[in-house]
Order: sequence, then C-alpha cells, then structure tokens
Amino acid sequence: MGVGFLGEYYLWVKAAHVIFVIFWMAGLFILPRYLVHHQDGLGDPVEEDRWKLREGRLRRIILTPAMIAVWVIGLALAINIGLLVTIQGLAWLHAKLFVVYLLTGYQAVMVGYAKKLAVGKAPWPGRRLRMMNEVPALAVIIIVILAVVKPF
Ligand code: HEM
Repeated sequence: MGVGFLGEYYLWVKAAHVIFVIFWMAGLFILPRYLVHHQDGLGDPVEEDRWKLREGRLRRIILTPAMIAVWVIGLALAINIGLLVTIQGLAWLHAKLFVVYLLTGYQAVMVGYAKKLAVGKAPWPGRRLRMMNEVPALAVIIIVILAVVKPF
C-alpha cells in the first residue's frame, strides 16, 4: 500500500468518503439537539426513556459506523496522496486531520454526556449545552475549506 495504490478508483473512493462524511455530519448535528431535549425532559420518565432509546439508536446506526467509515476511507485517500511518505504540500491534510481528531473527541464527549443524562445527571447548564451545538458546524467550515481550497 502506498502512493497511488487506489489507482483509477481514487475518485470513487473520494465519492464514498464524501457520502459517509454527510451521514456522519447528519448524526453529529442532531446528537447535541437530542441532548438538549433529553435534558429538558429530565424528571419525566416517559420522555427520559424515549430520548435514551433515540440516542442509543443514533449512536449504533449512524454515528459509530459513519465515523469509522469516514476515518478508514479518509485515511486510504490520505495514504494514496502520500501521507506516509512525505509532508511536502500536505500541510492542509495534517491540519484537517487535527480538526477531525478534535471532532471525534467531541463525539466521545457528547456520547459521554448522553450516558450521564441516562442516569438522570445534567452536569452542564442548558446554555453551555446549546453552545456545544455549534461545534460541529464550526468544524465542518474549517475542514471543508482545508480539503477543498487547500490554503497551505
Ligand atoms: C477522518 C479523517 C479524514 C481523512 C484522513 C480525510 C482525508 C481526505 C483526503 C486525503 C481527501 C482527498 C483530497 C483530494 O483528493 O484533493 C479528502 C477529501 C475530502 N474530504 Fe476528507 N478526510 C477526513 C475526514 C473528513 C471530514 C470529517 C470531512 C467533512 C466534515 C471531510 C471532507 C472532505 C471533502 C469535502 C473532500 C473533497 C475535497 C475535494 O476533492 O474537493 N473529510 N479527505
């Protein structure tokens, strides 16, 4: 495996990358909204059960599989364009990897928060939780500019 190993399939693999990116982002945009509703519904056992179920499904069906697919396919593209052999011309990719790494951490934090809500705890005030809603949008703006414009 090395530079150019995807050969003529490169663009197909890139298309698959963008498709899974969309699935992953859809999940990342909705998860913090679920958490806001879940937190607002604390104290009402029926509501609490509903949100626990929805959050569990979102994680199992969308978030975890899409996140893994984006990482695996993205790294294949990155290796194809030389991630393992050079840093020449790939500063944008390293910056992008760093932001995606942070976004993956964000998912872990929010899933952790869902687990706290599931046992009736609400560690953050609603305002802070709502501010956390903006993180994926900010990350997408930075990542897409890095991937498409490649400013450095
Ligand atoms: C998980 C780690 C990721 C890696 C290793 C990765 C790596 C790459 C690589 C190497 C390319 C090909 C660039 C080219 O052919 O010029 C690419 C394309 C792209 N990536 Fe990612 N990516 C990752 C995650 C993401 C995420 C999370 C997003 C969006 C939120 C994203 C959005 C895009 C877009 C829009 C393109 C198309 C750029 C173009 O060809 O115009 N990627 N990615």
